[in-house]
Amino acid sequence: MPPKTAENRLVFPKGFLWGTATSATQVEGHVINEWTDFVAQDGNHCRTACNHYHRYGEDIDWMASLGVKGYRMGIEWSRLQSGPGAELNQVELDRYLDILKRLKQAGITPMLVLHHFSNPPWISKLGGWTNPAVVAAFVDYVRKLVPVLKDHVYIWNTFNEPDTYASLCYLLGGFPPCRKWRIGSFRKVIRHMADAHVQCSGVIRRLYTNGVTPEIGIAKNWTVFGAYHKFAFWDHALAGLCHYLFNEFVVDAFMGGERGRASNYLGLNYYGRSRFLNFQPLLPAGGASPAQLKRLGIVCDDMMERYPAGLGVMLKQLYARYQLPIYLTEHGAASSDSDFRIHDLNQHLEVLHQTMKSGVDVRGFFYWSLLDNFEWQFGYSKKFGLYSVDFADEALPRKLTAVGEFYRQICRTSLLGMEPAGKKV
Ligand code: BGC
Repeated sequence: MPPKTAENRLVFPKGFLWGTATSATQVEGHVINEWTDFVAQDGNHCRTACNHYHRYGEDIDWMASLGVKGYRMGIEWSRLQSGPGAELNQVELDRYLDILKRLKQAGITPMLVLHHFSNPPWISKLGGWTNPAVVAAFVDYVRKLVPVLKDHVYIWNTFNEPDTYASLCYLLGGFPPCRKWRIGSFRKVIRHMADAHVQCSGVIRRLYTNGVTPEIGIAKNWTVFGAYHKFAFWDHALAGLCHYLFNEFVVDAFMGGERGRASNYLGLNYYGRSRFLNFQPLLPAGGASPAQLKRLGIVCDDMMERYPAGLGVMLKQLYARYQLPIYLTEHGAASSDSDFRIHDLNQHLEVLHQTMKSGVDVRGFFYWSLLDNFEWQFGYSKKFGLYSVDFADEALPRKLTAVGEFYRQICRTSLLGMEPAGKKV
């Protein structure tokens, strides 16, 4: 149980994995997948992104100076395999191996994400994850990848936010192939990814013959859905439907019944709440204006309603249900207001501490994100970085932000309670 020190600071347990996270398409640049030609709402694309592809050495140094002990990173399938059943590209494998070696030298434990919203072009041509043939293709890829990397990695995160991916590709139209209201495709994608997760878990376990037990899980995004008015029947009904479709249906597809055995931890991404008013989601990312949100008293970053209490409820519910250790695989806030972000992080970590104190086994926390980066359909307008990146400058300079400084103290001491004086929200 995490104790409190005499000075009343909150102490996290020894060995708690303080980390940060990125995904390949969002930071690497120089990638050829379905995002290469995608033009985001701010008119930009991901072709250079943070140029992490060439600058990973420097970025690992930034991580080390932050004091993080964990790094959740993506491996980009489209770089490694040029067609169904093809051998993996050795040059690209060597680059990932070099990253893993440097992380080890820096004392940083990697968590590898195998699928984070992107696919090789030949997979997109097959119809992406709506096509059952993609399951076998992905398992073949993983079967070839794991033997090369297994001596450097023991935490595997197969799929990042299958719910976000399937809904934005096939229900809401935000991600390529930008289809809308194809509920059948949404369900197929989830089922195929869940099948691939189960099969990959078996493959990964069998390949670890070195006495190490690999940790295998997904990262499920968990949004709290609700109605703005207590007695708004139809808004409650819509919130219930979203909760079923995006939370319960998805988590059950991956973790329900026998399939639960494929995971030995649960990864959870938590950003906040989405409430409805006359069917409109009250979120900046859902089109609500700052003036409207202010009038309604809803506190948001540039994407979501902030709702720290929801973090505790989610952790308790899912821990009680699955009895698996949990990693918070993503949490962060997008804003150019540092005080807001610091306060937000502090509040969420207080809730996390309380929840762990009540007995929920949470093993680590990965702040989203190391760098300001390509935020998918929104481009570069959302500032999530512990380091800012100046995208207007060709040199793409990184600079520690105030929230990065705040997080650095936490990573180094495992103590919370040092929130600098600043504007409260
Ligand atoms: C995704 C990230 C994304 C972040 C912030 C998560 O949904 O995994 O790729 O950048 O949230 O929106």
